[in-house]
Amino acid sequence: MYSFEELSKEFAIYFQQSHFPAEPKTLYEPATYFLGLGGKRVRPVCCLMGNELFDTISPNTWHVATAIELFHNFTLIHDDIMDKAPLRRGMKTVHTKYGEPTALLAGDVMLIVAYDYLNKIKSDQLHRIIYLFNKTAKEVCEGQQIDMDFEKSDLVSMDAYLHMIELKTSVLLAASLKLGAILGGAGEGNQQHIYQFGRNLGIAFQVQDDFLDAFGDPEKFGKQVGGDILANKKTFLQIKALEAANMQQREELYQLMQSNPTDKVQRVLAIFRQCGVDDWARELKEKYINAAFRNLEDIAVVSKRKEPLRELAEFLVKRDY
Ligand code: IPE
Ligand code: IPE
Ligand code: MG
Ligand code: MG
Ligand code: MG
Repeated sequence: MYSFEELSKEFAIYFQQSHFPAEPKTLYEPATYFLGLGGKRVRPVCCLMGNELFDTISPNTWHVATAIELFHNFTLIHDDIMDKAPLRRGMKTVHTKYGEPTALLAGDVMLIVAYDYLNKIKSDQLHRIIYLFNKTAKEVCEGQQIDMDFEKSDLVSMDAYLHMIELKTSVLLAASLKLGAILGGAGEGNQQHIYQFGRNLGIAFQVQDDFLDAFGDPEKFGKQVGGDILANKKTFLQIKALEAANMQQREELYQLMQSNPTDKVQRVLAIFRQCGVDDWARELKEKYINAAFRNLEDIAVVSKRKEPLRELAEFLVKRDY
């Protein structure tokens, strides 16, 4: 059995292989640039761990893990256009460096290459793999559209926020684990438990992402801190702050959402702090991590084999990047 850290290192090395042809450089260089910026590679590692929970890791699983990471990177390139994000992984986003048309195409071609990797699988589970991969990809698109729709609405409920982050983020973590489990020969019940584990973990993961977007250390976070505030993203920070704010604070928050003063981020952060968002972040993460740990208990495999998944869960909610 490999630890979470060992698998992360192994995958990072494996993924360095070239995924694209040389020409035209104007398309493939931007794609290669983005993959070269790194990233935590948590989803492919989830796939490998989901597989190793039930069997020794198979070549098929490496192909699926690669497809998943390519798919994830495709969503990030397009997400950065949608979110007008200048920075990712401490470097310029693809559209900032190469322009939007190239960023769109670099993302598109990455998605297609992801399917080339799925096409390498030799398994009688292939149809189930493609079905889950596609179901998840459609859900991510749905979540991303809802995220954009929310930018324009004044009031979004906590339930609506949770539904949105489940779609845009959480299902991909859940599916990564389950795809590994399917290839490892897991039974139906275990497949469901590992999916639920990933779903709850993914929600906690996005809560941490939203928290870091507001309060992260710009040096470590690698993205523009305050980007969500500038885009009027509906995050639990904003939803909870609007709930807890007094009349004056609420009025100020609404005014700030409708305008773009140069000190917008600082002023919104000040209100967030006054409303005690730190505590909510902790509570919310705990709620979903605890649920995830219960799902992990339900998987019918000796406890020792689940250790890498516990390490992953700890890392995802404590991370500062
Ligand atoms: C960023 O995902 C997008 C979200 C769903 C929050 P990651 O934080 O996993 O990004 P990288 O791949 O490590 O850069
Ligand atoms: C993006 O959520 C989720 C997907 C890319 C599908 P965010 O917009 O919060 O991700 P970051 O913060 O830009 O990484
Ligand atoms: Mg986004
Ligand atoms: Mg974004
Ligand atoms: Mg974010």
